[in-house]
Amino acid sequence: MTAAKAVYLDPPAGFERIVIGEATAALPGPGEITVRIRASSLNYHDYAVVSGRRGLTQRRIPMADGAGEVTAVGAGVKAFSVGDHVVSTFFPTWHDGVPFLCDFATVPGDGVDGFAREAVTLPEACFTHAPHGYSHAEAATLTTAGVTAWRALFADGGLKPGETVLVLGTGGVSVFALQFAKAAGARVIATSSSDEKLARLHQLGADCLINYRKTAQWGETVRELTGGAGVDHVIEVGGAATLDQSMTAARVGGHIAVIGSLGNPTGPVTVTQLLRKHLRLTGLLVGSRQHQLDMVRALNATGIRPVIDRHFPLEAMADAFRYQEANQHIGKIVLDI
Ligand SMILES: NC(=O)c1ccc[n+]([C@@H]2O[C@H](COP(=O)([O-])OP(=O)(O)OC[C@H]3O[C@@H](n4cnc5c(N)ncnc54)[C@H](OP(=O)(O)O)[C@@H]3O)[C@@H](O)[C@H]2O)c1
Repeated sequence: MTAAKAVYLDPPAGFERIVIGEATAALPGPGEITVRIRASSLNYHDYAVVSGRRGLTQRRIPMADGAGEVTAVGAGVKAFSVGDHVVSTFFPTWHDGVPFLCDFATVPGDGVDGFAREAVTLPEACFTHAPHGYSHAEAATLTTAGVTAWRALFADGGLKPGETVLVLGTGGVSVFALQFAKAAGARVIATSSSDEKLARLHQLGADCLINYRKTAQWGETVRELTGGAGVDHVIEVGGAATLDQSMTAARVGGHIAVIGSLGNPTGPVTVTQLLRKHLRLTGLLVGSRQHQLDMVRALNATGIRPVIDRHFPLEAMADAFRYQEANQHIGKIVLDI
């Protein structure tokens, strides 16, 4: 049993309810591994938990993403050895196959304790190996944002080289989607609230750029940029506020991965557009361990590295979330543990 530093959230949560304490990591039992957690990364979902929007009812260690090195293995552990670099999975009980979970009851940092801690002992299936050569900080960006973008484009979307992908904004999911889509030979159209951020997306490979603050009807602009056809895939993170424009931007028979709700929770949705264009809207919640294994294999093959905007120490978690709240970041914000 090891006593290690941990950050707790006291109900009902909020930045002023973040408390530094200790959490013990038990010796690993059969099939378990102990991991020295070295980094986590911020997602919008973690922001909802820590800021109190998710309505926490009991003391909880936050953060869904965790990466670090294995320090002990229990009897019968097959996939990992001491010293291996590992990344946590979002749904510890969803290993493969079709989804069967529709809530956050099993999700670290929400329904169960998460990774804002120095050490943890869990079943080996709660982790995968990290990509080769990744820092712990880079690996910690993958659990939520990386797997979501991967599943949206490849598992659900069936992206093919030569297709066109529209990504919205410059958050963690959208930047991963841009990087994955370019590596797969797709053309990428990207939107952002800021010309400076768009310039960075261009450096990352985006082919066409639209400032959605300056171009309210950006769906039409996307169609013009595709010769009137529309895009094959939309990584839709705006929700009701942007869905109508995303449907305008999509081609007939196109795929819209409905991922987030960053904007106003209500907005006009033209259902006839959905029908007329034979659109395929796919709701998704991150993905399975197998999606993560497939993504890690692709990262090893392509050498893609995550875009990390800023690092904060674990103890400065509130500052990290305030920075996320300000929407100044591009890609991922990391907590070093
Ligand atoms: N379903 C899932 O499995 C899943 C997984 C991960 C995340 N999500 C959801 O996906 C969304 C993005 O998550 P994230 O972690 O990538 O967030 P994030 O890193 O906090 O991204 C925030 C960025 O989104 C952009 N944005 C804000 N409002 C926007 C709007 N109305 N339209 C377009 N872009 C907007 C802004 O970029 P610009 O300033 O460049 O516009 C902002 O910096 C959230 O709603 C989150 O809950 C869902």
